[in-house]
Parts: sequence; C-alpha cells; structure tokens
Amino acid sequence: MKIRENVLLASLTTMRIGGDARYVVELTQKTDIPEALDFALVQSLPVWLMGGGANTLAHDEGFEGVVILNKLTGIEVLSENEERLKVRAMGGVAWDDLVDLACRKGFSGIEAMSAIPGTVGAAPVQNIGAYGQDLAQVVVSVEAYDRDKHEFVTLTNPEMNLGYRHTRFNYGEDAGRFLVVSVTLELKKQRMQPPFYNSLQRYIDEHGETDFAPQNIRRMVMAIRSGKLPDPTEVPSAGSFFKNIYVDKAGVLAAEERSIPVWRDEKDGVLRGGKINGGWLIEACGLKGRKLHGYRISEKAALVLINEDGVGYEELDLARKEIIETVRRKFGFTLEQEPVEIPVRADFVRRAQG
Ligand code: EPU
Repeated sequence: MKIRENVLLASLTTMRIGGDARYVVELTQKTDIPEALDFALVQSLPVWLMGGGANTLAHDEGFEGVVILNKLTGIEVLSENEERLKVRAMGGVAWDDLVDLACRKGFSGIEAMSAIPGTVGAAPVQNIGAYGQDLAQVVVSVEAYDRDKHEFVTLTNPEMNLGYRHTRFNYGEDAGRFLVVSVTLELKKQRMQPPFYNSLQRYIDEHGETDFAPQNIRRMVMAIRSGKLPDPTEVPSAGSFFKNIYVDKAGVLAAEERSIPVWRDEKDGVLRGGKINGGWLIEACGLKGRKLHGYRISEKAALVLINEDGVGYEELDLARKEIIETVRRKFGFTLEQEPVEIPVRADFVRRAQG
C-alpha cells in the first residue's frame, strides 16, 4: 500500500479540476482495502474510491479525506469453450484492455463498449454502456469489499440493480458501501445483429461494412468515438457530462409529438419508456460548440463538456447551471449530470467512517 499526502485531484481526474486530497492511497493487493479503510478510520477521515478518474469531478477545495486508488490488476480466464468465455478482471485493469482481450478471442458482449475510458472497477458502478450494449447484459458477479459488514462479498447480477447509469453502487442507501475488487463477465461466441444503434448503423451503411465479428465492431466503434469524443488523456473532459433523459411511455409519446428524438425502449412490441437525447436538446438550444465560463460544449457531441481554459469547479458549476436552465426553459426537461462528484457533504463523511 502506497500512501501520498496532499495530492492535487486535478492530476488524478480527466476533467483536470480539483484541489488537494489530504491522502491518496494506492491499492496493490486485496488485503490493502481493509488496511486503507483502517488508516482513514484512525484519523477520522472520509474515504473515496477512484479508478481512472475518467468520470469523477473534484471540488476546488479538494478533499479532506483519503482517496483510495484501485490499482489491482490482472485478468483471468475462468473457463473457455467453443461457445462461452468466462473471465474475471481486477478493478484496476483498464476497461479497454479487457475489451481488447475478449475481441481478440472472438467473443461478443462488450465489443461495442470499446474505447470507454476508465477502469474495470468503475464499470459496474455506473453500468457503463455504448452503442446498444451495457455491462448489465454480460456481468455475472462482482467481488467487492462491504464497508458495512467489513468483509469481502460477492454480488450477483440481480443484486446490483443495474439500470441506465444507475445502480445499487451509486444510488440509494447502499451508495458508496461496496468497493469493487473484481468483475466477472460471461461472453458468447456470436455476432451482433442488425438493427444496430443509430450512430453505429449510420457508420455501417456509410462504409458498406458487412462483417460484424467482435474485432470489426470494435474497429468501427473506435473510429466513431475518435471522431466524436475527446481523448481524455489529451483533452480535459469527463466523457458525457449529461445523461440522456429516461421517460415513461407517456413521455415518449409526448416527446415524439413534439418531434424530439427518443430512443424507444420496447420489449416484445410493448413500449415501456424511452431515452430522450440530451445532446439533441442541448444542440436545439443553440449551445453546441459554445464556450461558457471556460468550458466548451463539444462541437461534435453536445453531451460532452471540455475544460478548455483549465479553470476549476466554480466555473464548471456556472456553465452547468446555464446549460441545465436553458434546456429546462425551452423544453421543460431537466438534464442530470453524469460524472460523480467527490462529495463534501457531512452525511457522506459520517457514512464513510461507519
Ligand atoms: N445527438 C444530437 N446532437 C448531439 C449529440 C447527439 O442531436 O450533439 C442525438 C442524435 O440524434 C444521435 C443521438 O443523440 O443520433 C445519440 O447520440 P450518440 O450516439 O452520439 O450518443 P449519446 O447519446 O450522445 C451515449 C452515451 C455515451 C456513449 C454513446 C454511444 C450517455 C450519457 N452517453 O451518448 O457514453 O458512448 O451513447 O452509445 O448515455 C459516457 O457515458 O461518458 C459516454 C460517452
């Protein structure tokens, strides 16, 4: 376990904002977890677990606590046959390394989630997803450290309540309770089938693609993403800054009546609800490409905010409010932020010490 004191959070998060964390602890083995929590407890400091910092925002005041960085690495194939691959990856593995391995072996289930920044450990926390796939469809179980019970536990897929960017790990009374140690996935030897998610289908049509093997889908998705989404190692951003908006059936029909694009969530021909494109709403307000308080609303993908002037949280807060308010006034929908924030709330602090 490596401990550093007074580390700038701007250096650990891809949005490149945030003041000092009092301590940063790096996990290199499983047993470091209870040790790191004890270290915080002894000093009555709150803790925050972080992977690659690709979806995390920090405040200008920093964090008077212990940031635990998940650096647990290793990928293990648990079983493999002609049809299925069961694989376990430790939380500190780069997510895309896992996708790369699965695709090279010819297994399907995560190829459309290629080039998502961040770590494996962060993947179940927000149920990452892209181009029609999400983690919920392939994750079998997660090994985690339960901070309430002070022990390692295994959570099965249904126990994680995986919804759209919304899970037991990040929402409700168990938010922050589990520290992800490893993730086990089951992938299948098959190919994605048309119809594909909008932007992927467009690429396939434009380029006359006909082979949907995992490696090929991976290549296409990487091409789409690199043209649209900034590489957080080069351009400060946190990926999509806003979520798409989930609405019920009535909401879908109402949106369609107003010609607002909605992705319909249908099962067996029954309309269950849908997602309204946040990017479309922002664009329709004329905000795409605009710079607000040092943050640029990406010209290529309106859900993405880029920290162009290297400013801090205060400016981000102003930009965020302006965007949310503009969209709310024009359309009546309230955009929600996608990245998580290292909080400064007292209730979190109490919980973290518990
Ligand atoms: N759109 C616009 N203007 C824009 C952006 C999007 O009109 O500036 C509309 C278009 O109609 C487009 C549709 O929104 O067809 C969907 O856009 P896109 O395929 O680019 O995806 P997204 O909804 O903007 C989501 C995820 C991304 C993920 C992509 C691809 C969220 C918050 N974001 O973005 O995930 O890569 O789909 O599946 O769900 C992330 O979470 O950080 C992230 C990048």
